[in-house]
Amino acid sequence: MKVTYYGHSCFMVEAMGKKLLFDPFISPNPLASHIKVDEIKPDYILVSHGHEDHLADLVAIAKQSNAMVVGVWEIYVWATKQGLTNVHPMNTGGRKTFDFGTVQLTSAVHSSSFPDGSYAGNPVGFVVETQEGNFYYSGDTALTMDMQLIPKRTTLNFALFPIGSNFTMDAHDASIAADFVLVNKVIGLHYDTFGFIQINHDEAKKTFSSSGKELILLKIGESIDL
Ligand code: NI
Ligand code: MN
Repeated sequence: MKVTYYGHSCFMVEAMGKKLLFDPFISPNPLASHIKVDEIKPDYILVSHGHEDHLADLVAIAKQSNAMVVGVWEIYVWATKQGLTNVHPMNTGGRKTFDFGTVQLTSAVHSSSFPDGSYAGNPVGFVVETQEGNFYYSGDTALTMDMQLIPKRTTLNFALFPIGSNFTMDAHDASIAADFVLVNKVIGLHYDTFGFIQINHDEAKKTFSSSGKELILLKIGESIDL
């Protein structure tokens, strides 16, 4: 699977010949000003929750690509009101098989509202299972015991966790989350974008390496094969 980082919590995974984009927030991110948003053409867009820093570019990218948008019921209703027609509603715990593999929504301990303040349902994470491998994107969340349920059903190849603290887990809690879900490789997200979440990269990586795990911090625009 090829993973490309677009800054903050936005990344693309290419698996089974399909492109899955998560939490598109690119054009308002000054660190991602070199990314050409109008050239991003995913097949699916998965949205973890309604906060602006996870869906700012959702409608534009969905319209230019006709990608299927996947999110909780309230995201489905909101996206449909924005004029999107290719939207699939799910909710926490639900599983659905698509043409690339299966998605299950996990609980996330966070909040969720749309940019206008209206209710956006519960925040979620995603477990994605494909014949090329499986991964878990937690979305914005605290460290939570629920994560221990994931490896009871799915053997993961890697995980993507927020590490910026203040609004979510920091690297220390993310390394415990990696233990909970039985992965050794974690891609860090949700750091450095704003002053509240600036982190020391070397310290964050050491937190993982001291317990035999790897924290991968991609450059914005960089791709990696996992
Ligand atoms: Ni959030
Ligand atoms: Mn966020």
